[in-house]
Amino acid sequence: TDLDAFIDGLPKAELHLHIEGSLEPELMFALAQRNGVSIPFDSVEAVRAAYDFSNLQDFLDIYYAGANVLLTRQDFEDLAFAYFQRAAADNVRHAEIFFDPQTHTDRGVPFGVVVEGLIAGMDRAKAELGVTSGLILSFLRHLSEDEAFATLERAKPYLHHFIGVGLDSSEVGHPPSKFVRVFAAAREVGLKLCAHAGEEGPPAYVHEALDLLRIDRMDHGNRSMEDESLIARLAAEQMTLTVCPLSNLKLCVVKDLRDHPVPEMLRRGFHVTLNSDDPAYFGGYVNENYRQLAKAVGLTREQVVQIARNSFEGSFLSEVDKAARI
Ligand code: ADE
Ligand code: ZN
Repeated sequence: TDLDAFIDGLPKAELHLHIEGSLEPELMFALAQRNGVSIPFDSVEAVRAAYDFSNLQDFLDIYYAGANVLLTRQDFEDLAFAYFQRAAADNVRHAEIFFDPQTHTDRGVPFGVVVEGLIAGMDRAKAELGVTSGLILSFLRHLSEDEAFATLERAKPYLHHFIGVGLDSSEVGHPPSKFVRVFAAAREVGLKLCAHAGEEGPPAYVHEALDLLRIDRMDHGNRSMEDESLIARLAAEQMTLTVCPLSNLKLCVVKDLRDHPVPEMLRRGFHVTLNSDDPAYFGGYVNENYRQLAKAVGLTREQVVQIARNSFEGSFLSEVDKAARI
């Protein structure tokens, strides 16, 4: 449609992308072969068929298993560059990408191998595709705060490579309050703070992310819509929400895209962005998220433009860089 073509052509930033979630089955097979790692599937089709999730944990189990094929610096570079090629094709000009260091260090892959590989892919993306990017170190919330602190310590020699920290993995049972000290320590060393909040977890977790973690940006935030005081607060503070429609559909956070909260978020004056989360698992990169949501809920061109502007405004680029790119 006309709106689809309009969406495709709009320059945008992507602010919620887990690089491990961009591992396409074809690359998973290629890396398994290259590294002599066995995977529990005998074809790319069998992998895709397994991507049928009833909730976040169903997905996480298979997503962490998929990451087992990633071993070398080159693997992480290839993974990152493959994402940036997809992003560039969608007119993404800037991406702030999460990675989960603990998923790799807990398998014996050195922290530096992961970071140096990802940075090599990001440098190549800037040189060859003109896409700029930043790296966000995400703590796994199903692990302890002590383990998050150990991860932050490992990150210290590489701190100049990071723009921020995040908080992801299994939300329910692992509230933001568990990570207050490590988020304060990350702020202390100059990192921006993000957290997944209100994806499956209750509004109380969103309040905690704001009050206790003092986040700069909120990932998902869907369940904020259940709490009038949160709605008022997020609108007043113009908190950027990194919303992920196809993820929400695949993980059954929404039953149908037509029920997605974005139209209500926009009516309430939220600073909304649209993102792909784990595109290899959820069936679409950023433009597909814009297109399918726009079609399902009837977004206007003006709304689509606003969301794309928000993606640059809500980025961690400097104010000067933002002004140059909006
Ligand atoms: N890790 C990767 N994608 C995630 C998501 N949508 N929620 C929580 N943790 C994740
Ligand atoms: Zn996410």
